[in-house]
Amino acid sequence: MAPTKAVVADDHLALPAGGKNTPLTNTIPISNVQTDIYGLEIWEGTLPIIDLGGIHGPRRSDTIKQLGHACQHYGGFMLKNHGISERLLNDIMSKAREFFHLPEEERMKLYSPDPTSLIRLATGFKDDNQNVFVSRESLKFHCHPIENYVNLWPTNPPSYREVVSEYCVAAKRAEITLLEAVFEGLGMERKSIDQILDNHGQYASLNYYPTCDKSNLGLTFGLRGHTDPTILTMLLPDEVSGLEILQDGDWVPVKPIPNTLIVHVGDVLQGLSNCRYKSLLHRVIVNSEKERLSIASYCYPSNDTQMGPPKELIDDDHPLIYKDYTYEEFYTTMWKQRLPDASRLDSFKVSAA
Ligand code: OGA
Ligand code: NI
Repeated sequence: MAPTKAVVADDHLALPAGGKNTPLTNTIPISNVQTDIYGLEIWEGTLPIIDLGGIHGPRRSDTIKQLGHACQHYGGFMLKNHGISERLLNDIMSKAREFFHLPEEERMKLYSPDPTSLIRLATGFKDDNQNVFVSRESLKFHCHPIENYVNLWPTNPPSYREVVSEYCVAAKRAEITLLEAVFEGLGMERKSIDQILDNHGQYASLNYYPTCDKSNLGLTFGLRGHTDPTILTMLLPDEVSGLEILQDGDWVPVKPIPNTLIVHVGDVLQGLSNCRYKSLLHRVIVNSEKERLSIASYCYPSNDTQMGPPKELIDDDHPLIYKDYTYEEFYTTMWKQRLPDASRLDSFKVSAA
């Protein structure tokens, strides 16, 4: 059921930007895991596997250290024991699939070219300049606090609002736990952490990558290489491969692990950390046999949050790289410049004209 209405150029290149901690059945084949020099378990040579369950007990400081290594040396990680139940992961994926299998005219009721819409369907499109087709269809929406937005969400498929609300709340809880730990690991003071988390927003996207005709595979991407304009992005992939990350100059596939999220460092964390952590360049490729879905939850600060690195992260060994700027300024500049990656941050460098 490929989306056919390619409307305006609209992909991430131009994007403006429950329950208790029940361990899940992680079916991670040991043979696919190696250990690196920091003691991190690495999934198929790509990203470290972090157990968020460790954050609540005696392994807290080790887990925080592991998160720091993962962000610094890999730009992301696979996250297990994140506290979102297996039942809910299956429910949100089924609901997203049901949505994208609705007739096109039903989905298109949510279409909007306006990036500031509180909910909008974005369709695949052809980029004539580069002669490529970007095939992702996505339903993007704000979701925190839920009660401000839920009435804008579709009522078709049935139970959409209930399932998506439940997932967003659970994902938000995992995100806050994760961000607290990442900020603490960076050495940020409580005041600086609160300044960001108190007004933290949440924006999510259901992503659909249709199968691609064999003859067009060479010219089609799910998403072109980009970094996310977020603090972190938490991605739930289905079982179909397609996500690739740039590592040492090569695009390498990140194979999904059941019940495990994929987390990327975004541009905002690169700025906040004064470049200790770099945002991860990633893309999505498509195939001719299986459609693919993913659910992304984008963590970002409120519009007026100051995004320069906190003073406690600046010293003689780490001279200030970025000036203070608000998320709103970052977001507006990103839309004007339409850059695909963290070079969006360059105009906020202390050294910029
Ligand atoms: C994104 C993204 C990857 C995927 O939504 O920004 O990069 O696997 N998604 O869908
Ligand atoms: Ni992305």
